[in-house]
Amino acid sequence: MAAMPKELDGLVLAMGSSISVQRVAMRDFYLGEIAGQPCVVVLSRIGKVAAAATTTILIETFNVTEIVFVGLAGGLHRSVQIGDIVVASSLMQHDLDARPLFDRYQVPMLGRAQFDPNPTLSLALINHSEAYLNELSTENGQAPSARTVGIRRPRAHHGLIATGDLFVSDSAVGGEIQERLPEVLCVEMEGAAMAQVCYEFGVPYAVMRVISDHANQNAKDHFTDFLEQWAGRYSCGVLLKFMASRALITSRNSTHANVCPARN
Ligand code: ADE
Repeated sequence: MAAMPKELDGLVLAMGSSISVQRVAMRDFYLGEIAGQPCVVVLSRIGKVAAAATTTILIETFNVTEIVFVGLAGGLHRSVQIGDIVVASSLMQHDLDARPLFDRYQVPMLGRAQFDPNPTLSLALINHSEAYLNELSTENGQAPSARTVGIRRPRAHHGLIATGDLFVSDSAVGGEIQERLPEVLCVEMEGAAMAQVCYEFGVPYAVMRVISDHANQNAKDHFTDFLEQWAGRYSCGVLLKFMASRALITSRNSTHANVCPARN
């Protein structure tokens, strides 16, 4: 799942002739196979409600067993730069505040503020992100951080992601979020909503974000440029490797099942 078409085009293409399309609730769900793995590719559109609705349909209508969200994010923490990848170790809503009825950030009546993605899926995303970033740094063209800010080659991080119905394009607003939540690496608009729905249904999930901007006055321009030039390359670069590795795991498990019949 992703929020913008550019992030998904390559994955839809990778489904080749296996593809079929089903329209539900004004969204196109692309059904097919990538690297021999059955999967559904879908555009959530932007924001928490859109992500929650799309997640519910994926689970209830298409019976998916795992969900990966891929997209862009605004970097907040000093350790992240444009072109870096952040794989979520945990997600929360920075704009959720039902005080004094509930603690700040706590999802009312669920008793928690943070949602932790599946460690196996997340580790696979980190490994494939690192592999992709290595490839990028040895390509002839320059990696995005070298182009935009010229500091260092992109890195993969594992950390806290904050979600809100807000495109952060003011350093005072970004700074205020970072002050409240010092561990947050980046902000985006869908991840924690998907995470909450997956948690409620018991479906494993992971979230991978690429830093497109620094959530400041340049955010709109940097986001737009990054979306145009890099978003699809990153999502395809990492997720095609990820799908191939899931295919290996599935085939290993089924071989194992053949060799070791289930014990009663
Ligand atoms: N996604 C990418 N950049 C973002 C920003 N600055 N704020 C919220 N979501 C984003």
